[in-house]
Amino acid sequence: MAYLSTDKVEHHFHDVVIIGAGGAGLRCALQLADANCRVAVVSKVLPTRSHTVAAQGGMNAALGNVSSDHWHWHMYDTVKGSDYLGDQDAIEYMCRAAPRMVRELEHQGVPFSRLDNGTIYQRPFGGQSREFGEGGQASRTCAAADRTGHAILHTMYQQNLRAGTHFYDEFFALDLMMDDNGCQGVMAWDIAEGRYHLFQAKAVILATGGAGRIFQMTTNAHICTGDGGALVLDAGLPVEDMEFFQFHPTGIAGVGPLITEAVRGEGGYLLNGEGERFMERYAPTAKDLASRDVVSRAIAVEIREGRGCGPNKDHILLKLDHLGAELIMKRLPNIHELALRFADVDCTKEPIPVLPTAHYTMGGVPTNRFGEVVYADGDEKERVMESLYAIGEAACASVHGANRLGGNSLLEIIVFGRACGDQVLKHLGEKQYHPKLDPDCWKSGVARVERWLSGAPEQDDSVRISGIRDEMERIMQEHCSVYRNEAVMAEGVEHLERTAASLSSASIKDRGRVFNTELVEALELENLMGLARAAASGALARTESRGAHARDDYPERDDEQWMKHTLASIGENGVKLDYKPVRTVPMSVDSFPPKKRVY
Ligand code: SIN
Repeated sequence: MAYLSTDKVEHHFHDVVIIGAGGAGLRCALQLADANCRVAVVSKVLPTRSHTVAAQGGMNAALGNVSSDHWHWHMYDTVKGSDYLGDQDAIEYMCRAAPRMVRELEHQGVPFSRLDNGTIYQRPFGGQSREFGEGGQASRTCAAADRTGHAILHTMYQQNLRAGTHFYDEFFALDLMMDDNGCQGVMAWDIAEGRYHLFQAKAVILATGGAGRIFQMTTNAHICTGDGGALVLDAGLPVEDMEFFQFHPTGIAGVGPLITEAVRGEGGYLLNGEGERFMERYAPTAKDLASRDVVSRAIAVEIREGRGCGPNKDHILLKLDHLGAELIMKRLPNIHELALRFADVDCTKEPIPVLPTAHYTMGGVPTNRFGEVVYADGDEKERVMESLYAIGEAACASVHGANRLGGNSLLEIIVFGRACGDQVLKHLGEKQYHPKLDPDCWKSGVARVERWLSGAPEQDDSVRISGIRDEMERIMQEHCSVYRNEAVMAEGVEHLERTAASLSSASIKDRGRVFNTELVEALELENLMGLARAAASGALARTESRGAHARDDYPERDDEQWMKHTLASIGENGVKLDYKPVRTVPMSVDSFPPKKRVY
């Protein structure tokens, strides 16, 4: 193995390394770079290709520009939306910070849409209420037309270029360098040059986004492979609540791209094959703006009971032509383009065929509300892992619990990107020097790549990674979808474990080092597989229905047994599950106790 020698590994020193260049990573980098830290952002894609760019509908904040609003009502909606699995201290922190964060973004240059009086435009989104659910629908989602993530990501990137953040684009993170004192850095592979890089840092922040690609049909880009969660699993640490996976009600049927909830916020609605506005039956008050889990389940039931649309009755229609071409082109121009491109539908004239589609990873790397990674150590369920942080969709703070409200994702990345930056600054005050590294710390990262490039003896050229990936996605889609039950999931878990085992004998054809995309896909598949296993096993074990985890065989929420977070780690004997309590005590207000969730 020619590459197992340190002269082939370039060694970098930074105060902080952030893995991932989406909104969370960039907001955090900005906080640190503006405080004169030497910050590296290591990203497997050019920063402006990160998946934040695809977030459409907006960012929640109780500004009250359109309806009366208050951060406390936002907090109530988020706790209720989470089906009482969200940690209420983190939720309070996020909702209180939201208005300030939106104004800060505005001052940093985000081109929000405007009302006639010049204030930021806000639209209604799902699960938003006034006066703790008693005062009707709120309009809380601050939008830049239907390209809000695009606007935020580009602004954050520009601000980081100004602030002097160091970017390492098209570098793939291979391995966290952990020792008894926590995380000391990360090994990475330069995809373009085919070389190894060791990033030594006083703090490492995982901001790698979600893992939607564990499913066959997803709104997520190909890059959403849960890389941060996988690094944590490889380090022997757990991931949290991976069984809670959000299905967005309106992905384009058959292909997946997102049709934003903003369509329903602007007045669009869903129709079944009988032309009925069926959401009135499932959510008499909120109707099409019930929370996502409720709408996705309603669509699944309509299709299952034979009221789907099209020759195969296999989708539902999203009608918006009645909004008029002028409003559509002003508020939803991206949707107009996506519908034309992916469904061949001019949505100013016809409805869009839609279907629930895997969208958001509610679980992730367990953290507290400062972005510090926590793990269970005996009876201590939230011990902080020194120098390791996680933010954004990669993390589980947990502000979304069992079901995220639309518009809370862009909010989370900004609030916790900033909060984590502040926490790391405190940490850097205490950790002033780079500690001495274990001389072998780079080896496992290098071995991870060389195993694919060297054609190791156990590799079998007939076992291709593309086939394994298809199989994993199919298993997750068919066995762990909107509705779940014991028999179907148990079969899925067994099948998935066999499929995961076949990875160790798989091979790739391209053994080149320069821009080897097949190698990148192999590494991504390794990452996805661990998270799929954690999600499927966690789901099988959770014998209740809560938020996005809906079981036919256990249709009720069981607060007595299951108001707790799942912690899944992977050892030699497979997936190991542990649990920790939900943080039900907010920072300064009274707790919202669980009650029946109706919309
Ligand atoms: C959407 O616009 O519907 C997606 C935004 C989100 O997931 O919060």
